[in-house]
Amino acid sequence: MQAIVPVLYQPAISDNRAMAEIGTCELRLARRGDAALLARMSRDYIEQGLSWRWQASALKEKISAAESVVLVADLELASMRFVGGFAVMDFPCDKAQLNLLAVHPNLRRHGIGNKLMRWLHKSARIAAVEHIELQVRADNLQARRFYHQLGYQEETLLPNYYDGKLAAYQMKLRLHND
Ligand SMILES: CC(C)(COP(=O)(O)OP(=O)(O)OC[C@H]1O[C@@H](n2cnc3c(N)ncnc32)[C@H](O)[C@@H]1OP(=O)(O)O)[C@@H](O)C(=O)NCCC(=O)NCCS
Repeated sequence: MQAIVPVLYQPAISDNRAMAEIGTCELRLARRGDAALLARMSRDYIEQGLSWRWQASALKEKISAAESVVLVADLELASMRFVGGFAVMDFPCDKAQLNLLAVHPNLRRHGIGNKLMRWLHKSARIAAVEHIELQVRADNLQARRFYHQLGYQEETLLPNYYDGKLAAYQMKLRLHND
């Protein structure tokens, strides 16, 4: 693994950089107090160029909902803990829907996205979910590659899916619950 330059996700101190390796990365369920931070991460890393749908109120609803999981990757660097990534998945019945997934730009390609997704896949198997669906911007080649390596397949192109102007691919992972 190469050295990274993490930036704490707080705009007011965004120049406060530290050079270090990731100390630990632990997953935990989000708390309502995380909602504002996760909403900003969604706006800046996922919803760029679109209207901001996933605001703090929407994240709070997901954090409280019985059929949703909001998972946070807590990182420790130089004795400081901060949120390096997160994911939101719904488990409505025999299928699951990934709504949001993001990792801080300076922390990508260190396995955090995979760690979040593998935890969710394991939970989906325990819940006897048959398949997981997600929608990804058609122009987001990096995320599409990421999902491919996890076994997701592109099923349908959805023109004008985001804000009536951007295309998405519907991707699906079939889980084997045997
Ligand atoms: C997609 C995203 C969550 C991946 O998180 P990550 O922590 O960087 O992913 P990982 O380090 O676990 O990557 C696992 C593998 O996925 C593939 N992958 C990940 N990012 C990739 C990229 N930019 N280009 C090509 N392959 C990539 C690689 O096979 C990688 O393994 P490797 O690093 O050993 O080659 C992250 O890039 C991100 O937050 N992007 C912006 C938000 C976004 O697009 N979210 C998805 C919305 S649907």
